[in-house]
Amino acid sequence: MEVLEAQQGTYQLEDYEKMRESFDWEQTKEAFSWHRTGKVNIAYETIDRHVDEGRGNKTALLYSDAKREERYTFQDMKDKTNQAAHMFKEMGVEKGERIFIFMPRSPELYFVLLGAIKVGAVVGPLFEAFMQDAVRARLEDSEATTIVTTPDLVSRIPHDDLPALKRIIVAGEQDLPAGDIFISLDEKMKAASTDDSALEWVDLEDGFILHYTSGSTGKPKGVYHVHHAMLQHYQTAKWVLDLREDDVYWCTADPGWVTGTSYGIFGPWLNGATNVVRGGRFSPDDWYGTIDKYNVTVWYSAPTAFRMLMAAPKETLDKHDLSSLRHILSVGEPLNPEVVRWGWDVFQHRIHDTWWMTETGAMLICNYPSEPIKPGSMGRPIPGVDAAIIDDHGNELPPNEMGNLAIKAGWPSQMRKIWNNEPKFNEYFAIEGWYVSGDTAYRDEDGYFWFQGRNDDVIMTAGERVGPFEIESKLVEHPSVAEAGVIGKPDEIRGHIIKAFIALRSGEEESDELKEEIRKFIKTELAAHAVPREIEFKDKLPKTRSGKIMRRVLKAWELDEPTGDLSTMDDN
Ligand code: PRX
Repeated sequence: MEVLEAQQGTYQLEDYEKMRESFDWEQTKEAFSWHRTGKVNIAYETIDRHVDEGRGNKTALLYSDAKREERYTFQDMKDKTNQAAHMFKEMGVEKGERIFIFMPRSPELYFVLLGAIKVGAVVGPLFEAFMQDAVRARLEDSEATTIVTTPDLVSRIPHDDLPALKRIIVAGEQDLPAGDIFISLDEKMKAASTDDSALEWVDLEDGFILHYTSGSTGKPKGVYHVHHAMLQHYQTAKWVLDLREDDVYWCTADPGWVTGTSYGIFGPWLNGATNVVRGGRFSPDDWYGTIDKYNVTVWYSAPTAFRMLMAAPKETLDKHDLSSLRHILSVGEPLNPEVVRWGWDVFQHRIHDTWWMTETGAMLICNYPSEPIKPGSMGRPIPGVDAAIIDDHGNELPPNEMGNLAIKAGWPSQMRKIWNNEPKFNEYFAIEGWYVSGDTAYRDEDGYFWFQGRNDDVIMTAGERVGPFEIESKLVEHPSVAEAGVIGKPDEIRGHIIKAFIALRSGEEESDELKEEIRKFIKTELAAHAVPREIEFKDKLPKTRSGKIMRRVLKAWELDEPTGDLSTMDDN
């Protein structure tokens, strides 16, 4: 068995075994000011607290993109987030209201997101690639009252048939579209006070964020997290990211996804680290350049990005000085052992895999700088959390047997509900005492967990989680499409790509032009990352007698594997 031993150094989690025995989440509470004052707000702890404790002049945010290059101290962040909070307050936003943020990465995104949390609102971050239908589904389900966006994205926000939606706030200098619903962010922010009076104290069990994510059936679900989650954001950023105040930390995930909030905002800033945010698109040169320019010390990214960097010419790597790096981590998809080996070769560092989900709110199974890594394994549960492999009846399975990856229910950052969908929420906890993740895995004799796959049809493509149902529903809206089934097809770089099997309506001709047109349809109506890279036409699709497309049969066809039990298939 290949093992990479711990590197010499002093780490925030020195003795994993000992901590697992002695740790209790009560201990983490002492790190927060509410432990003394009784006044709770995750945005206060993330930003203002550093100012109140004399760290106001420390750099909080280093932002850059092709056009902008800006630096904000914790004092600057406090002022800007206070202004955003006042703006929302003056508009009449109340505690618990849903405020959506639909913007590409920019400093304003961070001001507005934290400002909304300051007034007790629940923020709903939306990834910038979403098109009209995807935006509508999320606004509708959450009954959001407010959405903040940019001139480039505003046309994708529907405002008919959304009775709850009162305000569309647009950043930037351009003229606003006509209508009372549109409000200028820049004007309101400029006019707003920087004082503390808009800050609302909340309860630990009040919500602060709603991340929409995909399952294998039904519409995207709103995963609801509460202020209490800060305990785990803070503690895992310490133990696993090994963050200290003098670190320059870069999380490459967009805040439209949970990694970009839990570890792109809360984890690092709760620990007072300097946070690098790079706008714009991925390119190997740009990414290495970002590490070089800011002397990034801790870097949290994803397997697809590492694989793309691996495929880039060596000159790109050689152009940059990456010697500032001291700790590298990965999340979102299986981290292949060859990527870990490559990381060791080119950075002289181990890449530490971490496992968690939108629903879990924060890291649960991880590798630690002070512990050995087995390349290909996700690591071991963090102190304070128990994980197991269980069968469908809740019995724990012995080492090396594959089963459901489950977590003992009740960790601090666990989701508190699925918005408007209690039955869906209950499905995760159907086995008494456990949260069942939907992943299949096994645990070895040393307690390391090994990911085997999803046991539902959720597709992880380039680190993004897409539900086949949303794509299938959109595909059948295309006038030429009668039926569609969508699966993830294994891919060397992206982990999986989206493949659609389509049965056309009678009279429609199969052609490459039609495939292209269908792809464009998904891209303009749903989202670029939901586009099927491959489309295959079929005369008919395998279905159950009740009419459900059998994705597992499509998968078996694709992979040339046995199709298994076909007794429920409708063979008419
Ligand atoms: O299948 C697992 C995969 O990503 C799923 C969760 O996706 P999402 O909610 O978008 O969150 C992604 C990042 C927090 C999981 O059910 N996944 C996540 N981390 C890993 C992983 N698969 C293998 N290895 C991982 N380290």
